[in-house]
Amino acid sequence: MRIRVYPEPILLQPAILVKSVTKELREVVRKMIDVMYSHKGVGLAAQQVGLDKLITVFNPDPEREKERVLLNPKICLSKGNVEVEEGCLSFPGIYGRVRRASHVLVTGMNLSGKEVRIEAEGLLAQILQHEVDHLNGILFTAKMTPATKIQVQRQLKQLEERYRKAQGD
Ligand code: CO
Repeated sequence: MRIRVYPEPILLQPAILVKSVTKELREVVRKMIDVMYSHKGVGLAAQQVGLDKLITVFNPDPEREKERVLLNPKICLSKGNVEVEEGCLSFPGIYGRVRRASHVLVTGMNLSGKEVRIEAEGLLAQILQHEVDHLNGILFTAKMTPATKIQVQRQLKQLEERYRKAQGD
């Protein structure tokens, strides 16, 4: 599994509903967790490894084996506004201020096929919003503050240029 980097088109493609938990899906999830840890990420969405299914793995706690898996996640409620610092494995070297809700209620399915509800605040709420956005084809650059958008413009152009060159080869 290779991390897809901006502006690879799959990152802008909304993912598709997971209908059932199969052996193949469990295997995909296991690989996603490995990729997340090996890149020291706190969350990963399927499109970031080239898949178009509604799957995310995350772990706000750097301690291993506390990761969680959410299939078909949906943000049902969000309240409050915060400005936080964020990065993304699909945007190497780019960090900046983004606007997020401070509290969210997320529903989805776990690997046992059961419905789960997660009430989150703080870092977990931030991660869930970032990953659900990914699954909908929305990147964190869309949530950046105006000042940050200006600051990262050049770096984004560099990633776009690198992608164009790789396509040309
Ligand atoms: Co990301």
